[in-house]
Amino acid sequence: MNFSGDQRLSSAAAGAAKTIEKDAAVKTLILSGASRGIGHATVARFSKEGWRIVTCSREDVPDDCRRDPNWSHHVTADLADPQSLQAFVKEVKAFLDGGPIHALVNNAAVSPKTDYKERLGCLNGDIAGWREVFELNFFAPLALARGFAAPLRKGRGAIVNITSIAGHAIHPFAGSAYSTSKAALSALTREMAVEFAPIGVRVNALAPGEIETAMIGPEYEALIPRIPMQRMGTPAEVAGAVFQLCSSDFSYVTGTEVFVTGGQHLF
Ligand SMILES: NC(=O)c1ccc[n+]([C@@H]2O[C@H](COP(=O)([O-])OP(=O)(O)OC[C@H]3O[C@@H](n4cnc5c(N)ncnc54)[C@H](OP(=O)(O)O)[C@@H]3O)[C@@H](O)[C@H]2O)c1
Repeated sequence: MNFSGDQRLSSAAAGAAKTIEKDAAVKTLILSGASRGIGHATVARFSKEGWRIVTCSREDVPDDCRRDPNWSHHVTADLADPQSLQAFVKEVKAFLDGGPIHALVNNAAVSPKTDYKERLGCLNGDIAGWREVFELNFFAPLALARGFAAPLRKGRGAIVNITSIAGHAIHPFAGSAYSTSKAALSALTREMAVEFAPIGVRVNALAPGEIETAMIGPEYEALIPRIPMQRMGTPAEVAGAVFQLCSSDFSYVTGTEVFVTGGQHLF
């Protein structure tokens, strides 16, 4: 189990709860996978909009992010480990002290590659590796949504599941385990939208295409001619779309999947 943030969060919880009580008008975002990439950019966007942010990833966040005054708490947790995930949920609830959650962004995911950048398909690689991918990419979003259902209900919140273009068609570099886990997450989004609607919680998915982060390598440059907009996307562009999905302008939108792909998903 890798959950070194529990002490830090517990000790801060009492004082922070008072702050939450005082700032009841401030909205709260819970985001998984904040230490880099799309998650990092999404934290920056919500923070700029004045939201209170609670995050987790296996690593601590870089120092420069810590300067952000709205980033209330980061917990180191391994969401592929169900025990670590439950500890994260418990500590965040203690931190919120009965307060609402207005958005949950299920962003953390893994896309395993071989050392030779060989695509991991159905005929190569370890089957146990598939289970690890599904634990983080599929079961963690489900468990976090369940775990936070009550505070999300209180906040009439929104859930955004970060899926992928690879969940909809064969991708030259993304492996089969990753792609099928994302396809399952797209399907789960529909199921969740229907089941969470009666408790006032909207659930949507956002499928990025090729976004400039650590998840993609130089080999992805070859994909640019397939993108109608002729460029990769930036993490900030994904973050902007996530923010809009959580805003009141989207109050009648649930169960949908937004493609942030520069048009790549059309082929
Ligand atoms: N980049 C793209 O082009 C692209 C395209 C389609 C979809 N997406 C999706 O967009 C999301 C973000 O992608 P990204 O490119 O920003 O990824 P990234 O740069 O690899 O970042 C992934 C984040 O998830 C965290 N994480 C990984 N394993 C974890 C675990 N077991 N427990 C907790 N946190 C964990 C990482 O932090 P630690 O390593 O510190 O744990 C990191 O903060 C993912 O869902 C991905 O599938 C990305």
